[in-house]
Amino acid sequence: MQTAERVKKIEPSATLSISARATALKKEGKDVISFSAGEPDFDTPLVIKEEAKRAIDEGFTKYTPTSGTAELKEAISKKLERENGLFYLPQEIIVSCGAKHSLFNAILSLCNPGDEVLLPKPYWVTYLEQIKLAEGKPIFLEPSPSTLTVKIEEIKKALTPRTRLLILNNPSNPTGVVWEEEELKELADLVKERDLIIISDEIYEHLVYDGAQVKSIATFPGMKERTIVINGVSKTFSMTGWRIGYAAGPREVIEAMGRLQDHSTSNPTSISQRAAEKALTSDPVLVKEMVEKFNERRKLMMQYLSEIPSVTFPTPRGAFYIFANFSSYLGKNYKGKPINDSLQLTELLLEEAQIACVPGIAFGMEGYLRFSYATSEKNIEKGMERLKNFVSQTI
Ligand SMILES: Cc1ncc(COP(=O)(O)O)c(C=O)c1O
Repeated sequence: MQTAERVKKIEPSATLSISARATALKKEGKDVISFSAGEPDFDTPLVIKEEAKRAIDEGFTKYTPTSGTAELKEAISKKLERENGLFYLPQEIIVSCGAKHSLFNAILSLCNPGDEVLLPKPYWVTYLEQIKLAEGKPIFLEPSPSTLTVKIEEIKKALTPRTRLLILNNPSNPTGVVWEEEELKELADLVKERDLIIISDEIYEHLVYDGAQVKSIATFPGMKERTIVINGVSKTFSMTGWRIGYAAGPREVIEAMGRLQDHSTSNPTSISQRAAEKALTSDPVLVKEMVEKFNERRKLMMQYLSEIPSVTFPTPRGAFYIFANFSSYLGKNYKGKPINDSLQLTELLLEEAQIACVPGIAFGMEGYLRFSYATSEKNIEKGMERLKNFVSQTI
């Protein structure tokens, strides 16, 4: 059966398909070490799970308002006030089925066909496909090779009368880079001067290291009314399967997103909403322990990768990924098998060394590989030894 043109343009998620392949190989009995995970490997904290059980026992299992319960919206509003100093009314907040869903609704609500959407490279895979679905025109912004961040001059060069939106991901998936306050201020000034809108995906804001501070671009004067803040509980509270994300922004955009939700998903799962409310109102120590563990793993993986000849990467100060430049290995071969691009390299790594990672091309950057350290130190040691061994046999 023929499918609509709309979906023919959409690529499957490279990150999800690599993870699925690694899982399938593991099921076949292969000892695969996966560095492809986009989710914390910790369990959801007990207090959150217990709240969900309570919600079921109390019969909190019916429809809720489409945009989320009043209680969860209040918890989100308080969180934004406490942590960012921003005050949002309930009508300026919407709860969705994961941050991915919030992003989808925000992009669909803001982007007219042909509108230009600025997308700093490397970008999280989903942004590009969502822009395409909204019939927007993605405009890629090239990063500086050493820092993998986009300079303000690069953004200025890309502006045209059709520029509408910029998608900011801070901290970044795949690089882990955190924007400096000064850079954000420059960007905020430009956005105001050129009357643009920012979608600010802050889902990794709490997973930061080396004293990095994540400042929301919405906090700069005059920016709250130009920013849709996207966030959620998936990464911070290890709740990826619960599917709760949210957006905060100008009322007319949030209401438009609500209309989309009214006729697509209705409310996010009632039980998950209760769990998310618990997460957002619980003791921050829950998150602190997880961040400390991630930090140990980050240092371990950085140590291994820095010992691999000719491989470079910007020090990740957020999220749980390292985006490493392997371009000096392209054009080589492994036991006679050619390595022409990052996809071939990840395939060979999976088949020959039983390690899964994501090709940089999925994030718009050829020659790079993304490694997730959301796995045990034992796995990092074992997998990184395999990687070292693999590269030593490339010629
Ligand atoms: C940058 C970024 N934004 C959003 C999401 C989606 O999060 P959620 O699980 O809440 O949909 C992810 C998940 O990988 C992500 O990496």
